Amino acid sequence: MTDKIEYSRQDDIAVLRIRNPPVNALSQAVRQGLSDAMDRAEAEDGVKAVLIVGEGRAFIAGADITEFGKPPQEPFLPDLCTRIEGSPLLVVASMHGVSLGGGLEVALGAHYRIAQPDARVGLPEVHLGLIPGAGGTQRLPRLTGAEKAIEIITSGRQVKAAEAEELGLVDRVTEGDPEAVGLAYVRELLSTGAPRRPVSELPAPEPIDWDATYDSVLKKGRGQISPATAVRAVQDSAEHPFAEGMKRERAHFMDLMQTDQRKGMIHAFFNERAVGNLPELKGVEPRALQSVGIIGGGTMGAGIATAALLAGLNVILIEMKQEAADAARERIAGNLQGAVKRGKLSESRYEAMMTTGLEVSVNYDSLRDVDLVVEAVFEDMGVKREVFGRLDAVCKPGCVLATNTSYLDVNEIAAATSRPEDVIGLHFFSPAHVMKLLEVVVADKTAPDVVATGFALGKALGKVSVRAGVCDGFIGNRILAVYRTAADHMVLDGASPFQIDKALTDFGFAMGPFAVADLAGLDIGWATRKRKAPHRHPEERVPTYIDRLCEQGHFGQKTGEGYYVYEKGKRGGTPNPKIAELVAEEQAERGITPRDFTDEEIVRRYMCAMVNEAAKVVGEGIARRPLDVDMTLLFGYGFPRFWGGPMKWADIQGLDNVLADIERYAQEDAWFWQPAPLLKKLVAEGRTFDDLNKAAS
Ligand code: 3HC
Ligand code: NAI
Repeated sequence: MTDKIEYSRQDDIAVLRIRNPPVNALSQAVRQGLSDAMDRAEAEDGVKAVLIVGEGRAFIAGADITEFGKPPQEPFLPDLCTRIEGSPLLVVASMHGVSLGGGLEVALGAHYRIAQPDARVGLPEVHLGLIPGAGGTQRLPRLTGAEKAIEIITSGRQVKAAEAEELGLVDRVTEGDPEAVGLAYVRELLSTGAPRRPVSELPAPEPIDWDATYDSVLKKGRGQISPATAVRAVQDSAEHPFAEGMKRERAHFMDLMQTDQRKGMIHAFFNERAVGNLPELKGVEPRALQSVGIIGGGTMGAGIATAALLAGLNVILIEMKQEAADAARERIAGNLQGAVKRGKLSESRYEAMMTTGLEVSVNYDSLRDVDLVVEAVFEDMGVKREVFGRLDAVCKPGCVLATNTSYLDVNEIAAATSRPEDVIGLHFFSPAHVMKLLEVVVADKTAPDVVATGFALGKALGKVSVRAGVCDGFIGNRILAVYRTAADHMVLDGASPFQIDKALTDFGFAMGPFAVADLAGLDIGWATRKRKAPHRHPEERVPTYIDRLCEQGHFGQKTGEGYYVYEKGKRGGTPNPKIAELVAEEQAERGITPRDFTDEEIVRRYMCAMVNEAAKVVGEGIARRPLDVDMTLLFGYGFPRFWGGPMKWADIQGLDNVLADIERYAQEDAWFWQPAPLLKKLVAEGRTFDDLNKAAS
């Protein structure tokens, strides 16, 4: 027996305690240990029942994800669950913390389940590009019916104990030590002569409209295949005997295991966690963080204030004038009310935040005692330098001074103070209380504990924080500018913005670049083009057709017209017929004969542009590792999670293929398509971006 399972006897009950920190993942040793312990319980004299409990913070968090992609090792999890269920002894699972994936499947293999009130159960395999592979798709519908099982499996959500009890997923909810309440429950079951109750022997679920359900789940998944596959697996549970259903589930599971989507999703799972582990921060303690100052209460300042209040921090927000201060307070109240409406915040906590938690002022002196300040004033170097000069004068020594600038040089901002070591960029995304990404922008003189404090703030606010260096646009916006330009070039050459948006949403993006531009406001890009015009390289191709629309006062969604036309009361827009005319005029002026693009070529060019710039960003050290780029695009730019990120996508395509395409495109436009030196180097060495990630960890 392995040391992962502690076996003990409590009279006629064998207790199997799983000890595999941190979350009792079902590694080979755990599976073997459980199987051996079942054998021992059945062989020992006087054992009537088995109680399975987990040690530490969870019952079992599921299969061991680090084993995926490697050759499977016996005992296989589905066989273990069936073995547990088939035991002549009465088997009970006592669940605390989370019971996820294979963890819930082990519990479903038991004959009875008891859970702590704060326990959560679920089958989150779809978030890894998989379906439950150890009977979850066969046993769950026998307990809950097909419809509910499909909802739980395709959403991958965590079900709270009370709901699990209502659904018949757990039999009892009792607070107390999991082993103690589990033992009491087993004794009660034994004393009342409760029978073994294998879920597999329950009647199969009633049929539903499988094809309609499959289609709707497929559509909702935006290209992700595992949720739709789960529908078919549940269908199998209704249409075939249990053993055959298990075989089919296994076949679906093994097929999905081979997919790029599974690789992408698991890359995302691990790197979402790895992104905050920076070797340079090992052993560096962050500074104390209880109160936060915010300068500017516009879109971003109000959003950041909301996020900070929701995280339990005290906020002092400074605006220029009383009216602006009042407007900022209103904006924050509106954001928080949204949280109240969604049931995420109680009325009483809302009141406390708006009274004791938040101070809105026009007086910088109020910032004397805060631990960290985030500046979110207009994107103008003069204004920012003036603000940082004032912060330098008023803030206490050791206060972290952060800027939320999107593009400006953080070194230049830091130079406006006498303490550049305390200055950092904290680049939030709009809406700041919703978007998960935070770029922690490290300037030349930023002190390590200030960087650590940036990450600590990100963690407190529930963000995914990525370290970035200083350049125009940092990681995300710099790469965005380039792939957005690739899309513009395709429009000039003959693809419509609408075809491009559609091809990219079919690829899995939340929105296409032109719909995003309408949402952000076309005036922003227009202003940037005007600002950059004097510095353009003569060979740079910059379309100006959309400027004609801006000149007429059409700025996208907020004015009702942009690439799309938006009707009041209707969601989304319809293609603006003016675009085709404006593009045709510009093509004629430039002497371009438009050509057709396939959706495949659109995606390829867009992605190659993204990867090429990303490789430059990594090569220059702006991003430390390819995984930093992947997480930036995933959490800030609507990149499809099932691809893992652009660098993972490139690894999957083969870097040599990506480079070959870039070199081919360079024959048309050598200025735009300059291959990244890092990409060339990796191809020459036969290495991948993931090799760089591994080397850096
Ligand atoms: N396998 C291997 N490692 C796992 C793991 C798993 N199933 N679940 C978590 N871990 C690791 C994490 O990578 C992390 O490692 P690190 O400390 O080295 O970074 C550590 O455990 C702690 O995890 P978190 O930082 O995420 O801790 P939290 O407390 O925030 O969250 C959790 C805990 C809710 C369990 C979360 O980790 C989670 O959602 N895990 C994945 C659960 C899951 O997807 N289970 C299904 C697996 S697939 C399956 O079971 C297939 C089956 O049907 C055949
Ligand atoms: P905004 O125009 O909505 O708000 C700016 C606010 O700053 C205004 O309310 C203004 O009254 C106030 N302000 C200006 N000077 C001030 C001063 N000296 N003292 C106190 N308050 C002052 O702008 P927004 O969109 O909130 O942007 C703010 C910053 O955040 C900019 O640097 C921008 O580049 C950056 N940013 C914006 C994003 C967005 O999507 N809007 C995303 C990420 C960063």
